Amino acid sequence: MSATARADAFRSAMRRFPTGVTVVTSVRDGEPRGITLTAFASVSADPPMLLICVNREARSYLYIASSRIFCVNVLAADQQELAERFAGKIREHQFDDIAFTTDVTGAPVLPGTIAHFDCEVAEEHHAGTHSIFIGRVLSCDASPGAPLGYFNGRFRDVGAWGE
Ligand SMILES: Cc1cc2nc3c(=O)[nH]c(=O)nc-3n(C[C@H](O)[C@H](O)[C@H](O)COP(=O)(O)O)c2cc1C
Repeated sequence: MSATARADAFRSAMRRFPTGVTVVTSVRDGEPRGITLTAFASVSADPPMLLICVNREARSYLYIASSRIFCVNVLAADQQELAERFAGKIREHQFDDIAFTTDVTGAPVLPGTIAHFDCEVAEEHHAGTHSIFIGRVLSCDASPGAPLGYFNGRFRDVGAWGE
């Protein structure tokens, strides 16, 4: 069989899968960049590896592909404004007024998140419009708190999940 689902049917079915929300940051020539991203998954615990899927037309793609480093920041329930900011609402000076820190790679670690994973790119695979980056996790950390959720095209308060 060689059938392919239509893109709109695919999008509408995929909207039924609930996720958390991340901002993936990188830095190139001293300039930080971030992108809101839900296509994030664990790959392996030992060694620790994860994956993200990034549209190759996104500006962030160039930063990650050339610097070969990125940091996945998992947003807390009260960080919807950050999710919107890094989804294109603010195109320049994305990090103005954000007191970010850094871990091992130098990619921004956002304040107030519930976890971060600081990574170097181990592999890149092209798939359709996107690239799958496999990250080797050099450092990570977790904090208590409820996550920001995303389902059916909307940010969600998933409440007690943080307890
Ligand atoms: C909730 C949400 C999830 C998103 N997930 C992804 C994703 O997994 N991969 C991706 O490439 N873009 C994703 N995007 C789109 C990017 O955030 C958006 O295209 C961004 O503005 C690209 O910015 P840039 O071109 O400045 O890098 C998502 C957007 C939203 C609002």
